[in-house]
Amino acid sequence: MEYAIGIDLGGTSIKYALVDKAGNSLFEGKLPSFASVSAAKVTEQLIKVATTLKGEAARENLTVTGIGLGTPGIVDETNRIVLGGAENIRGWENIDIASLLEEQVKLPVVVGNDANLMGLGETKYGAGKGCTHVVFLTVGTGIGGAVIIDGKLFNGYANRGTELGHVPLIANGERCACGAIGCLEHYASTSALVRRFSASAQERNLNFNEEINGELIVRLYHEGFPLAVECMNDHFYYLGRGIAGFVNIFSPQRIVIGGGLAEAGSFYLEEIRKVVKAHVIADCALNTEIVAAALGNKAGQIGAASLVL
Ligand code: BGC
Repeated sequence: MEYAIGIDLGGTSIKYALVDKAGNSLFEGKLPSFASVSAAKVTEQLIKVATTLKGEAARENLTVTGIGLGTPGIVDETNRIVLGGAENIRGWENIDIASLLEEQVKLPVVVGNDANLMGLGETKYGAGKGCTHVVFLTVGTGIGGAVIIDGKLFNGYANRGTELGHVPLIANGERCACGAIGCLEHYASTSALVRRFSASAQERNLNFNEEINGELIVRLYHEGFPLAVECMNDHFYYLGRGIAGFVNIFSPQRIVIGGGLAEAGSFYLEEIRKVVKAHVIADCALNTEIVAAALGNKAGQIGAASLVL
């Protein structure tokens, strides 16, 4: 049996495992990514992860074919250099992370956009299984997207597309971290939800004795707390409108939504479905189901490994 090291680099942590062709994981784990420190520190962590997994595999006499790495940002045509666009990782621009890892770990490396690899993982082994046309969205600090057409990942020419979080949604809106105005990510990510909730709470002199995060807002929403209801409804509206656009363009069999909020319960998808229904062209949506991701935070590492295998 052959294995690949699958690594999913995020703004907070690096998730990893040794994965086989069936999508089973061994030696799974998580390390801090130190994304706010420096690109050198992030690289150091990645080398540590890969070296540890290689060592574990050797101890068990398992054959490791290579390393698959998912990273935020645009990864150029050769699939090796991270050009930029990973705003939540300090200095993560024009990095030949594949060569750096190869030199240190002595295994071939394939690099791809994190959301693309999550989408690939979900399509092969998760909520998109059995479908040939899937649009995947990960809603978290940012919004990333993947488009699977005829069973294959569609990346745009030279691998520079499908940045679904950066679709301009609001004309004359606020500036997104990418520099453009009114992006879907800036209005519908979890960070956007938290930012809007915190700002309105401050304006209304509301204080909370705990960290304001997605979990708290969802809990308050269920309790009928007016500000949480308002902010969640805005969130459903923005995300639903963005998704309606993707349905009209791709008419996928499934829209798969990943990230912590999508795991909050069935109410979340029900609300999104209502907004999508109100904004979509019904004929485009005829075959589209909107579902939650199934692999949780494992999708990225599994998808990354599947690139190698
Ligand atoms: C980045 C994408 C990434 C997504 C999720 C976005 O801000 O532009 O490249 O896939 O965040 O990490």
